[in-house]
Amino acid sequence: PFYVTDKGMPQPGITTAPQCYCVFMTFDLAAGSVARSLQVLLARWSAAIAQLQAGKTVGAVAPSRGVGAGQDTGEALDLGPASLTVTVGLGPGVFGDRFGLAGRRPAKLAELPTLPSDRLDPALTGGDLSLQACADDPQVAYHAIRDLARIARGTATVRWTVLGFGRASAGPHQTTPRNLFGFKDGTRNVSTDADFDKWVWAGSDDQAWMAGGTYQIARKIQMNIEIWDADDVADQQKIFGRMKVDGAPLSGGTEHTTPDFAVRDAAGQTKIDLRSHIALAAHENNDGVKILRRPYNYTDGLNQYGQLDAGLLFLTYMNDPEHFVRLQRRLGASDLLNEYIGHVGSAVFAVPPAPATGSYIGEALFA
Ligand code: HEM
Repeated sequence: PFYVTDKGMPQPGITTAPQCYCVFMTFDLAAGSVARSLQVLLARWSAAIAQLQAGKTVGAVAPSRGVGAGQDTGEALDLGPASLTVTVGLGPGVFGDRFGLAGRRPAKLAELPTLPSDRLDPALTGGDLSLQACADDPQVAYHAIRDLARIARGTATVRWTVLGFGRASAGPHQTTPRNLFGFKDGTRNVSTDADFDKWVWAGSDDQAWMAGGTYQIARKIQMNIEIWDADDVADQQKIFGRMKVDGAPLSGGTEHTTPDFAVRDAAGQTKIDLRSHIALAAHENNDGVKILRRPYNYTDGLNQYGQLDAGLLFLTYMNDPEHFVRLQRRLGASDLLNEYIGHVGSAVFAVPPAPATGSYIGEALFA
């Protein structure tokens, strides 16, 4: 059996309370791939994902006669499902002429424009397909990606990948975790059904096959940890517009108090600097626009200068990529945080709904 879902349900890994770990990988479809190969890959991935999410192997670990390579690589045997979810995305390249799917391309799906403060590395940018595997055991997430990449061999090649080691957002019943700058991340995020309907799930103006789907934007954002650590905590708080320890907005109250961007101190300055990260990103200052943030902390060890090479794998979901573009135009131009971060990787994907029982991810595309 493939997935067991009702028609039009979202894929797991979007509303799912963020698991502890994430492996994100993007793929390029091989030059010789045709619509049929893409279809077969999506069907095989869907079947494998259903197995993996149930804590099962994808085929045998040991061949029956004890000779030859196994199908499943085996390193997640005995680890259970560990809350694994795998979310599949389709990049703009899927809708080029070569697969005959140009007529199915969602009008909102296109490569992102160049944004202020982009420092994108082409080797960390783009992709025809994406896999987001999240789990409470890093080996389970890695195993899923590894076996799915094996299945793709011959049809698609790996383009870029990020290993996220700590969740940096919270679901409704989770405490807010912290990013690598030591601040609580995920305090004000999309959480109500009404906001998911308004800001995350594709609307009736979209392609019919996207009903119940959404768009994923992934950004690999490097964080300059050493210079951040040398900064005064008071300045760090000014940059985010929040207190470091308890996460309260600088306008007062506790973590979940609504920030007041107008309230002023005795000297007449707004208590929350208007170039702070939250002032520029808040929906109150962006015509109501909200995006679902589901980021993870990552590290690549040390860079060529011996500095910590780490940051935020910024995974986001929204029903119009333009919403991200709008926010990032403002942040990239004025955010006080810019001195300490650099966007080095980027990609955008359409995320179809979960397949109904007996179907596979994206099947409606080929109908
Ligand atoms: C809020 C960190 C990049 C959009 C926050 C908060 C922190 C944070 C600590 C406050 C707590 C919260 O409400 O979650 C970071 C870091 C980033 C980063 C460390 C990069 C390394 C971005 C980007 C965007 C973004 C690229 C969008 C383009 C938002 C939004 C909020 C937020 C919408 C909520 C603002 C509010 O309504 O109060 N971020 N962020 N962030 N961030 Fe970021």
